[in-house]
Amino acid sequence: MLSREDNERLCRVGPGTPMGNLFRRFWLPALLSSEIPIPDSAPKRLRILGEDLVAFRDSGGRVGIVDAYCPHKQAQLFWGRNEECGLRCAYHGWKFAIDGSCVDIPNLADGENLKRKMAITAYPAREAGQVIWIYMGPKDKQPELPAFEWTELPDDQVNVSRWLQCSNWAQGMEGEIDSSHIAFLHAAKREDLKLPRPFSAYMPDIADGPPEFTLNETDYGFVYGTRRRMKSPDEYFWRVTQWLIPMYSLIANQDYPRAGRAWVPVDDEHVTTFSYMFNGDRPFTDDELTSLGRGMYFPPRLSQGAHKLPDGYVIDTFLPTAHGGNDYLIDRDLQRDANFTGIFGTNEQDRAIQESQRAIPGVPHGRIVDRSRERLIPTDVPVITARKILLDLAKALEDGIEPPQAARGDLYRVRAVAAVTGHAELDPFLSDFVDRKDRRI
Ligand code: FES
Ligand SMILES: [Fe+2]
Repeated sequence: MLSREDNERLCRVGPGTPMGNLFRRFWLPALLSSEIPIPDSAPKRLRILGEDLVAFRDSGGRVGIVDAYCPHKQAQLFWGRNEECGLRCAYHGWKFAIDGSCVDIPNLADGENLKRKMAITAYPAREAGQVIWIYMGPKDKQPELPAFEWTELPDDQVNVSRWLQCSNWAQGMEGEIDSSHIAFLHAAKREDLKLPRPFSAYMPDIADGPPEFTLNETDYGFVYGTRRRMKSPDEYFWRVTQWLIPMYSLIANQDYPRAGRAWVPVDDEHVTTFSYMFNGDRPFTDDELTSLGRGMYFPPRLSQGAHKLPDGYVIDTFLPTAHGGNDYLIDRDLQRDANFTGIFGTNEQDRAIQESQRAIPGVPHGRIVDRSRERLIPTDVPVITARKILLDLAKALEDGIEPPQAARGDLYRVRAVAAVTGHAELDPFLSDFVDRKDRRI
């Protein structure tokens, strides 16, 4: 459990909050490069860490992420014209470049002097791994991009998607490192090929019984392993995955691409989930891409659209087909006969739970979990550890100590593994599976 106060410190990320300040020390995924695909394409509305923003690609192909509102009369720049290296407000024509500078005030005869005073907030943006990244922290503290493997591979070996989840970022992130739910929430009958295969179907020779957990803290966060006994003696099936500061996961799959997720807060009650799937050594096959589009795992079934947030601001995002408004399309016959939940896809199952957990007083259910009521057990150690690391880093930052991970993009060059081995301990197992000299694990 967490005290009410620590729960608030963990979850709230608006400007000036301790966790918001910590997130603002890192590059964060903001949107997919394909959402603003070509120069002068339509701008996109975003909210990140509680700040309303608009992203656009200018005539030179450069990306700008700027304040959503025009300084003149607070009109939304989303309605503007993206033309000739800037975004021109649709109301009276003021124009802004990707660095936020005001480059034209056409409704004033002598607008030259005024332009200099009308710059708007603009955050640095970069592109890597088919994602546009944003840095929202102090100018003199700009960090390194995390050197994830998937950000450095050719495009045809990587598949990135994103979608809206209606919960605080932390409960999504915590589901990611909650290994013991997989055998329950995501269980399905092995022979039903229309459903996501349960974890055990990948390894039919696993002996039954709960797995053993091992966790080692590292300089990027922690690495943790689940060890299951195989039916043959002295063999173990290990899944070894990472949690990386402030909210990344890496997942190993045996016969499926490598994967992971990033949880980027929209505000305190919404999060954008970024899912990255990648093959280290070959392009995706057509079958794999077709499979990804079916919504069985990550991403869920999606459509591109606009979502009105409770205060009326609209964001452009990807919206899950199964959501709280339709009970995630639960099918009780399916639940009786074929899978644990009656809900189709892996992420759809996760979201059904995470978007409905009991909330702190005053907040709609599902939005910020009331962690003061939890009764955690030893299998929750990864979640407990992640919370502690983040709260400690946020406290240190309040005391003037910068998070060292922000300046070390190389720390993120790690791989998750899933394999059968004779090693009963995590450390020697890991040393066997470092498969590139420059990759840490
Ligand atoms: S409100 Fe944008 S130019 Fe007037
Ligand atoms: Fe899950």
